[in-house]
Amino acid sequence: MGLKILKTSSYLPRNVVTNNDFEKYLDTSDEWISSRTGIKERRFAVDEDTSDLVYKSVDKLNIEDKSKIDLILVATFTSDKAMPTISSSIQKRLGLMEDIFAIDFNMACTGFVAGLKLCEKYLDTGRQAILIGADLISKTLDKNDRGTVVLFGDGAGATLIEKNNKQQYFEIGTRSNDECLKLNGRNIKNESSFISMNGKEVFRFATEVLPVTIEKLLKEKNITIDDIDYVVCHQANYRILNYVAKKTKIQVEKFYMNLDKYGNTSAASIPIVLDEMNSKGLLKQGQRIITIGFGAGLSWVGTILEW
Ligand code: ACO
Repeated sequence: MGLKILKTSSYLPRNVVTNNDFEKYLDTSDEWISSRTGIKERRFAVDEDTSDLVYKSVDKLNIEDKSKIDLILVATFTSDKAMPTISSSIQKRLGLMEDIFAIDFNMACTGFVAGLKLCEKYLDTGRQAILIGADLISKTLDKNDRGTVVLFGDGAGATLIEKNNKQQYFEIGTRSNDECLKLNGRNIKNESSFISMNGKEVFRFATEVLPVTIEKLLKEKNITIDDIDYVVCHQANYRILNYVAKKTKIQVEKFYMNLDKYGNTSAASIPIVLDEMNSKGLLKQGQRIITIGFGAGLSWVGTILEW
């Protein structure tokens, strides 16, 4: 059974932090950051928390027929609430029926595409889900750690998804690793509660699994890269995506990137990209888009969306 994304929306906090802003207080430079990551600026929320980003992106979806919605999923690792879930509050906010399933879940940067898999498993044909990827990572960053603070940004992207009767393949992976990417819970005493990362290990992991995942997705569908219009991967780093383009011999132009403006927004990055492409009129009916999320866990999930 397949999935169709019917609507997209996104919300980015207003406050823009440029690479030059970091130069003012850290031993770093615009040249270092942009040449290694592709990032020029990002948004850091000021008076908002993760739930605010979720609500603002969901409100912009403007869902007309709410009677088909059976599932609300919020993918985030930075929820402001341990309970109740952010997803449960959307039921009342949108005036949805009570017989819906609402779940917040954490699969870090893999969350959005993992959420697609959950939609595919849960929904019956013709039924719909609201899937949101949202993270307010700035609150988890040590502002004096130049190795991490320059990489991330805050944002949210929301989608309305419908199940159809086509085949939808997924490639899924989990590889336990506690060292590459780590963030202790707020309740852990005497330990840092900032993100820590081994950048080189993350780079190695991503450049290993992305080409293999692309190859397997194409093989499963018995198509070639010529049948693919775009590749929308988690926006971690332009060097990772450039490397993958070379390795898979896919034109780099097929890899849509907007991390120059927003940095790495974790679970939000893919729905933000899809919404930007949609708003620009780049996505047309029948197009095929490879989408892959990857991140902490380590974990990765990929699929081919048909627009
Ligand atoms: N400005 C200036 N210098 C810096 C900065 C900075 N912002 N950050 C680190 N450095 C320094 C380091 O301290 C180090 O200095 P030293 O040699 O004196 O010790 C030097 O630069 C080299 O550090 P490396 O970590 O080896 O730098 P590298 O060339 O590997 O680049 C980077 C770091 C860009 C993070 C790279 O490893 C990378 O692209 N990794 C992928 C990680 C990633 O994208 N993470 C995103 C989150 S994970 C996810 O979303 C799945």
